[in-house]
Amino acid sequence: MSNRIGIVTGGGDCPGLNAVIRAVAKAASRQGWETWGILGGFEGLLQPVSCRQLHYRELGGMLTRGGTILGTTNRGRFTAKVGLGQALRIADETLDEAKRGSEELGLSALVAIGGDGSLSIAQQLFERGIPVIGVPKTIDNDLSATVMTFGFDSAVACATDALDRLHTTAESHGRVMVLEVMGRYAGWIAIYAGLAGGADVILIPEIPFSYDCITAKIAERAAMGRHFSIVVVAEGARPQDGEVMTTGGAQQDREARLGGIATRVAAEIERRSGKETRYVVLGHLQRGGAPTNFDRTLCTMFGTHAVELVQRGEFGRMVSFTGAGVESVPLTDAIGQLRRVPLDGGLVRSARALGICLGD
Ligand code: F6P
Repeated sequence: MSNRIGIVTGGGDCPGLNAVIRAVAKAASRQGWETWGILGGFEGLLQPVSCRQLHYRELGGMLTRGGTILGTTNRGRFTAKVGLGQALRIADETLDEAKRGSEELGLSALVAIGGDGSLSIAQQLFERGIPVIGVPKTIDNDLSATVMTFGFDSAVACATDALDRLHTTAESHGRVMVLEVMGRYAGWIAIYAGLAGGADVILIPEIPFSYDCITAKIAERAAMGRHFSIVVVAEGARPQDGEVMTTGGAQQDREARLGGIATRVAAEIERRSGKETRYVVLGHLQRGGAPTNFDRTLCTMFGTHAVELVQRGEFGRMVSFTGAGVESVPLTDAIGQLRRVPLDGGLVRSARALGICLGD
């Protein structure tokens, strides 16, 4: 094989992208291989090809650095997802052009780091003849065929820290505090952070909620002398008789932008309970900053395992976390079907056992 690996980051950014890039480039250099970064997402493979070699000396500090030094995008000619379960085919001419770009660069493998949409693009490039390995990324943790994606733990840490801070001010003022976290189709961040941060109400996309249920919980707490309450709501949660809230509709090359549910929930709680209620939208803070210890280790294992797969010539696969270690699965197992919080799983059962209101 030639000695040049390409690496590309696609979709929304998250903590740990640079840690994966570092792990791939370091492990590859020990094999005597070069690593080339494709710039600006998959578009960097199109004419004029945009890339640069990643030299060993510049990998210092990358383990902890947030974002992606390669740049990324979740729109444009390589948009492979515009809604739940909706996979888009990338245009044939775009895939052909990317293949030519990869040949022009002399890549013997392409490591594609991304979530459902980017890995679906990776699969289409693989079917086109590019030797691809996938690495699962998304703070939403909603990817099939891996127990966890990287970036998720860092987002949960950020949301938990926010809840800890909201707790003290909520208690001081006897207020209800509503925190909106990310989670488009799956409520992993909301439920993990909600449990870790001692929330009283957790609203996730998997369980449409009723306002009566939420205000009953707040009243129950008040009756016990607890005059403040903490509510976590995932951006993709919706009331039983309502729709998901968006701030802009879906476009040909972009999913609808979610937002506004915390405002609505806070207003309804205040109107119905008479309790002073405030809200905070955590937004992209969850996607920024340094990865947690867990994510640093996971990213390192993912990156080194990706290089092992390249070495063995096992393409069309994605590295995957089993809970105990890292293995690999066919890319096709990971895409097309999002992994949502199971309603009969341990997280939901624990929440219910504590009397946390899940909105139903
Ligand atoms: O998919 C990850 C995610 O963080 C979603 O939770 C969120 O809806 C979306 O990205 C936001 O994307 P953008 O930064 O493009 O608005």
